[in-house]
Amino acid sequence: MNQIFKSVLSQSFILSLLTLAAANQSNAQNITIPIETSHQALVLQADENKNLKNIYLGKKLADPKEYDFIKSRYKQTEDYSGLLNSAYTPSGSRNLMEPAISVIHADGNMSLDLRYISHKTIRLNDNVSLLTVLLKDPVYNFEVTLYYKSYHKEDVIEQWNVIRHHEKGNVTLQKFASANLNLQAQSFWLKQFHGDWAKEMQPEESKLTHGIKTLDTKLGTRANLFMPSVFMVSLDKPATEDEGNVLYGALEWSGNFKIDFEVDFQDNLRIIAGMNNYASPYILKPGEEFTTPAFLFTLSDKGKGEASRKLQNWARNYKLLDGKGNRLTLLNNWEATYFDFNEQKLSGLLKDTKKLGVDLFLLDDGWFGNKHPRNDDHAGLGDWQENRRKLPNGITSLVKEAGADGVKFGIWIEPEMVNPKSDLYTKHPDWVIKQPDREEHYFRNQLVLDLSNPKVQDFVYGIVDSLFIKAPSLAYIKWDCNAVIYNAYSAHLKNNQSQFYIDYVHGLYKVLERIRAKYPVVPMMLCSGGGGRVDYGALKYFTEFWPSDNTDPVERIFIQWDYSYFYPAIASSNHVTDWGKQPVKFRTDVAMMGKLGFDIVVSELKENDLKFCQDAVSTYNTLKNVIWQGDQYRLVNPHEQNMASLMYVDSTKSTAVMFNYLVNYRYGESSKTPIRLKGLDPAKKYRIQEINIYPGTKSPVQSEKLFSGDFLMNIGFNPEVNTTRTSVILKITADLSKAANTL
Ligand code: DGJ
Repeated sequence: MNQIFKSVLSQSFILSLLTLAAANQSNAQNITIPIETSHQALVLQADENKNLKNIYLGKKLADPKEYDFIKSRYKQTEDYSGLLNSAYTPSGSRNLMEPAISVIHADGNMSLDLRYISHKTIRLNDNVSLLTVLLKDPVYNFEVTLYYKSYHKEDVIEQWNVIRHHEKGNVTLQKFASANLNLQAQSFWLKQFHGDWAKEMQPEESKLTHGIKTLDTKLGTRANLFMPSVFMVSLDKPATEDEGNVLYGALEWSGNFKIDFEVDFQDNLRIIAGMNNYASPYILKPGEEFTTPAFLFTLSDKGKGEASRKLQNWARNYKLLDGKGNRLTLLNNWEATYFDFNEQKLSGLLKDTKKLGVDLFLLDDGWFGNKHPRNDDHAGLGDWQENRRKLPNGITSLVKEAGADGVKFGIWIEPEMVNPKSDLYTKHPDWVIKQPDREEHYFRNQLVLDLSNPKVQDFVYGIVDSLFIKAPSLAYIKWDCNAVIYNAYSAHLKNNQSQFYIDYVHGLYKVLERIRAKYPVVPMMLCSGGGGRVDYGALKYFTEFWPSDNTDPVERIFIQWDYSYFYPAIASSNHVTDWGKQPVKFRTDVAMMGKLGFDIVVSELKENDLKFCQDAVSTYNTLKNVIWQGDQYRLVNPHEQNMASLMYVDSTKSTAVMFNYLVNYRYGESSKTPIRLKGLDPAKKYRIQEINIYPGTKSPVQSEKLFSGDFLMNIGFNPEVNTTRTSVILKITADLSKAANTL
C-alpha cells in the first residue's frame, strides 16, 4: 500500500468501510429507482457497493421491473472503474473520466467517493414529483443530495444538487455540475447554437466523436452572446421534425456554464452540465449548503417537433413568468428615434400608439442622466433620474398622458450597468467591477455593477421600485444588459474573488426575486443587446425575451425558427422595424409569429401601410391565443428549402394559423408543391382563409372550399407563395356545420 493511500486511510475511513460492508451483507441487492414521465424514463440504480448509476435514459418500459435487466444485455468492454455511468461522478478516487464534482477537503485531500444512502419521492401534485437521493462519502463528512423534479405530462425532468459538509474546516468545491447523464446509441449527433450580436441562434449539427466536446461561456453577464446552453442530441442518426430519438437540454442559469459531451471508451455518451467552474473554486463552510442551478431535459422518440412542443408546454405551465397569461402588443421608440426625443415627440408617439391600435408605448434608452445626459451610449448609465431637458415633467406625467390617450406606458432600463461618465461611477467606484490596478476595458462604453454586493443589489432593486412608486400605473419594463464582464474583480468579495461569477448571478436573482415579490406579474422583457441572456433561469422572472437586435425579417425567420426549438412563441418579442428590404406586410407577418410589437415611425407610414398595420393588429388580437398557447408545428425548414412554413393549432384542433414565407428570391422560387399540415383532426372539415391581405390586393385562396384534416395532413395545401406573394398567412378553421362538404 503506497504512502498517499495510507495517509488517507484514517480511522473514520475504516469505520465507514466496515459500515458499508455490513450494509452490503444485509442488503447486497441493487436498488433500482425509476423516474418515469408519461413516455420516458430515467432509471437510477445503486449497485451492490452503493454506487449510484444511470442505468437507462429512454422510452419508458411497460413493466418497470424489466429495467433491472437492461444492463446485463450490454456486452461492452470492461468498465474498469465501475463508475462510467455514475449518476454524479466524483473525482480523485477511482473515477477515470470527466467528473461531475471535484473538491478539496478541509484537510487538503482531493479524493471524493459518493455512495447511496437513501432516497424518497414526493408527489408535489398530479403532474409533478420530486425524487431526492442522498449520497455520502464513506470517509469524509461530505454529502450531496440529488434532486430530480419530473413533469409527467410534459416529459421534462429538472435536475439539481445540494452539496454540504461538516468537516473541520472549509471545503473548496472545484467542480459542481448540475447533472450527469448517460446515453447509449450507435452514434450521437449534437445540434448546438452559436452567435454574436445580431446573429443569435445559428445552428450547427455534428457527429460526436470520442473525447470531450464542450459548450461553454465565460462572459459573466450577457453570457449567451456567443453560445447559449440549449442543445439537442440525436441518437443513432440526426432526428427530423417527426422522427428519431432526441434529447433536448438546457441549463437554468444566467451566468457562465459548461456542458461536456464525452463519448467514452465504451462508446457511450456522458453529458455533464452545470455552472462553469472556470475561475470559480467555491469555498463552502461547514454546515453551509451549495445549490446548483437546475439542468432541464426532455426526450422524444418522435423527433424534434414533439420535443419542442413538450418543452414549450412545460415552459408555459411551469417556468416562464405568467406563461398562460396575457401579453401586451406595443410600439417601441428605439429605432424610431434612438436617443433623439423630447416630451413633445413622445406625446406624438403616444398618439401613434393609439392610432396603430397596440396596447402600450415603450420608451427606450436615452430618458435619463443630467450631469451626464444619455444622448448617446457613452454616458449616463447609472444615473436613473429623468433628463430634465428632454423630459421636464418626468415619467409620471408621460405615464398619465399615455393613460389619457388610452394606452399603457412601459420603460427601458439597464440597471446592472454604469458608464464611467456618470455620477454613480464617481460616487461609488467600489460598486463597479474592475481590477484595482489595471486599465479599464469597456464593452459598449460601459462597465458592470457588482451584484455580489448587497448594497448594489439594493440599488438595482431601488431603480425598479422607485419607478413603480413614482408611476404606479407603469405597465412594462424592458431590462437590458449590454456588457460582458472584463477585468472580473469585486471590491466587496475581497479575498473571495473566486466566488465572484457565481455570486453575481445569485445577486441578480435576489434582486429579481424581490421585484417579483412586490410586482408579481408586471410584464418584463429580458433583453441583452438582443438575445444575449435568453435562458430558463432568467425567464422565471420575465414574461418575454428579445431574441435579437437583428429585425431584418428574412434573418428573423431563421432566428425565430431556431429559438422555437426551445421557447414558446408567447415569450418571443418580435418587432416590425425598418430593417431589411421587405414590404411592411412581410415584416408584420414575420413579427406575428410571436409576441407582436412595432418599432417604426407610424406617422411616416403610407396610407395603405398604416391601414394594413392597423388591420393586422386587430387580426392578431383575434388569433394571438392560438399563437401563444397553441401547439407549434414546424412544416418547412428555411435552412433546407427556399421557404419557411410553420403553424399553430389550438388545443381543440378547431383553429390554426399557418405562416408561410419565401426566403430565397432567386430563379422565381415559389411553393411548387402542397405543404402537409400537422396537428389537425383528420375527421374535421376545415375552411382555409388567407388573412393579413394587403389593401387593394386579392388572394387566390378560395375560402368557400372545405378540406378534411385527413386531406390537409396527407396531401397538404399550397399557400401559393411566390415572388409576388412572399408572405402568406392562412387561418384554418374547423367547420362544425353538418353541411360541411369536402373538396
Ligand atoms: C440594446 C437592445 O437590444 C435594443 O433593443 C435597445 O434597447 C438598445 N440596447 C438601447 O440601448
